[in-house]
Amino acid sequence: MKPACIFDMDGVLVDTADYHFESWRKLADHLGFVLADDMKEHLKGISRMASLAIVLDNGGIQVEETEKENLASLKNEWYIESLNEVGDEVVLPGVVNFLHHLRDIGVKFAVGSASRNAAITLKCLGLDDLFVSIVDGNDVLHTKPNPEVFRNAARDLQYKEADCIVFEDSQKGIKAAKAGGFFCVGIGDRNALKAADIVIPGINAANYGHIVATMKG
Ligand code: BG6
Ligand code: MG
Repeated sequence: MKPACIFDMDGVLVDTADYHFESWRKLADHLGFVLADDMKEHLKGISRMASLAIVLDNGGIQVEETEKENLASLKNEWYIESLNEVGDEVVLPGVVNFLHHLRDIGVKFAVGSASRNAAITLKCLGLDDLFVSIVDGNDVLHTKPNPEVFRNAARDLQYKEADCIVFEDSQKGIKAAKAGGFFCVGIGDRNALKAADIVIPGINAANYGHIVATMKG
């Protein structure tokens, strides 16, 4: 049986990290402070409300619960607006080829994303039909580093955790994958993603045969 694949979305399939971060910066600006560049890495893979808490903490700002919902909605409106201005170029290099290759060799694959915008984003890009399942932030109680999102994806794929490869660009997501018993391919910088089983710079460098050989060790 060929191991199945579970892809995080933001930063793995689509290049949205800058759009998320710029929307948080805009919110910080709206609240009267500057969000430092180094916060970008910390916000990757973190759910919308948890990200808001980090941003508010960074600015030393305290707000009521109802206001938190308003601020998160405002950020999301700006994020969606910024995404509406881009098209297929947001899909990261090699992604479509790799997904088609997996499909052609009979590998099943799904999405496991913290984003509540994952299903809609992939639909807009015409990629949603390729996946057996898209599990996103709307479908889980516990966010990464809890492995729930990947476990739900494995369940939908009808594969055991140990027979799935998770592709993840965030430290929190890699922690989630390892806590769930998955083999994890880190996407990005080797030094930042030490907890992954292997690290590649992007999906365009992914070689399924090589990854499986490493996994089977
Ligand atoms: C993750 C991103 O995939 O989704 C985070 O890495 C983002 O930056 C999180 O905050 C939640 O996204 P959304 O679309 O539900 O606000
Ligand atoms: Mg990500």
